Amino acid sequence: MKSIVILISGRGSNMEAIVNACQREGWPARIAAVISNKASASGLQLAAGLGIATAVVDHKAFDSREAFDAELARVIDGYQPDVVVLAGFMRILTEGFVRHFEGRLLNIHPSLLPKYKGLHTHRRALEAGDAEHGCSVHFVTEELDGGPLVVQAVVPVAPDDTVESLAQRVHQQEHLALIHISE
Ligand code: GAR
Repeated sequence: MKSIVILISGRGSNMEAIVNACQREGWPARIAAVISNKASASGLQLAAGLGIATAVVDHKAFDSREAFDAELARVIDGYQPDVVVLAGFMRILTEGFVRHFEGRLLNIHPSLLPKYKGLHTHRRALEAGDAEHGCSVHFVTEELDGGPLVVQAVVPVAPDDTVESLAQRVHQQEHLALIHISE
């Protein structure tokens, strides 16, 4: 049985999708904890309501990225996870953190990487007139949004799509793509 720690910064719908998958019969994983860099992340309440341990490591309480990442790594290590998933965790991580968890650190990103690393991916795909958009689950390396791919899901772009409508369909695919993380 693999143990997973999930890091979030917001509403946590991807986290919820992983929790739901874990509760399905035969899924060889359990969620050890959900950790956020923001106490206000609504996903924390969602996780607590699902009976999962939660923790907050507030990045604002640290005067350097290194100090925050060191404390975050210490808290994660306390749960001894096999896999750490960044599910809408909106922090750039230091080399030291990434190296510490290398090979067991996964991220879900809302684009067909290597296209559109970084932010505002849906708007950028629409502005480029792309016929297809989507999401990627990948291993995290020191290159931002650049590590080896685990799985991608393609979403056709409709002529009348808005950022919101496209984001919503990509989100639905993110929830399905994440089911591969126990493999
Ligand atoms: C997701 O769309 C995820 O791909 C994105 O944040 C959203 C979180 O939604 N992550 C990134 O942009 C990371 N670069 P959620 O809180 O509902 O899971």
